[in-house]
Amino acid sequence: MGYIFGLIGYPAKHSRSPWIHHHFLEQQHESGVYRIFETSPADLQSTLASMKQLQIDGFNVTVPYKEDILQYLDKLDPYAKKVGAVNTVLYQDGEWIGYNTDGKGFVRSLLEAYPNVDLSSSKALCIGAGGAARGIYTALLEEDMQRVDIANRTPERANTIVELNDQEIPSRAISLGEAEKSLEQYDIIVQTTSVGMPPNDHQQIISLTNVKKGAIVADIVYKPFETIFLQDAKQKGAHILHGHGMLIYQAALAYEKWTNTTIQADELLGKFEQQLK
Ligand code: ATR
Repeated sequence: MGYIFGLIGYPAKHSRSPWIHHHFLEQQHESGVYRIFETSPADLQSTLASMKQLQIDGFNVTVPYKEDILQYLDKLDPYAKKVGAVNTVLYQDGEWIGYNTDGKGFVRSLLEAYPNVDLSSSKALCIGAGGAARGIYTALLEEDMQRVDIANRTPERANTIVELNDQEIPSRAISLGEAEKSLEQYDIIVQTTSVGMPPNDHQQIISLTNVKKGAIVADIVYKPFETIFLQDAKQKGAHILHGHGMLIYQAALAYEKWTNTTIQADELLGKFEQQLK
């Protein structure tokens, strides 16, 4: 019998994860299925109980359960504990172990697209302070960067994230206005808010007038294909990184945990982007 993987979330029906993981299975010449368990909050406990009984090899967790899942786990990876959210669960010897591959998926997509970037000598700015920002911020700290700052509309939320930093990496919570003015000091800028996504697709979170030429500007929004933010970045001479990479590489990292293998995801990323264009 092959692998059984899954996704729990609400809504989850339109997820691209089955498509992605079926490609990985095929690429690895493994048999298996990836099923969606769309589950309302009232049914969460019973669905999870059935999933445990089924001994599913691994599953992903999406909105709104990335934090709720913590109470159902037997073990929690220290990095996921720091992020405070889990998107990947591995079933091992009867136990559920929780991981988070979202932020690390972003870092891997960055390094796959720009292999010569030296993160340890770079300064980063993360825009936004929601769940996605928290994961990316934590993953960037793990890379021993020179500095990682967070800019958010509500500065207190950025402060809460900066307080997670126990690695002695310089880090500040700043306003969006401050970020706009001081952009030239950053080598990597990551936009993690929903601004740029419909119905906010005509908005741009900050102007990129002061961006350094040759900086890398990323947006984790992947619909539309290229946000106004990225179009602006390109115009100002920055390198850009689309949000599709993070989606594909967080999945690749989850698959690698479940199967203890290493996979190539660049070809799949190309296919995925073709579909969206
Ligand atoms: P997620 O978990 O997907 O990251 P979230 O927790 O809802 O989502 O966070 C959304 C982020 O987008 C926040 O940083 C939010 O800013 P606030 O903390 O000030 O709310 C940001 N955001 C959403 N809409 C925005 C807008 N119109 N202008 C500026 N920031 C916005």
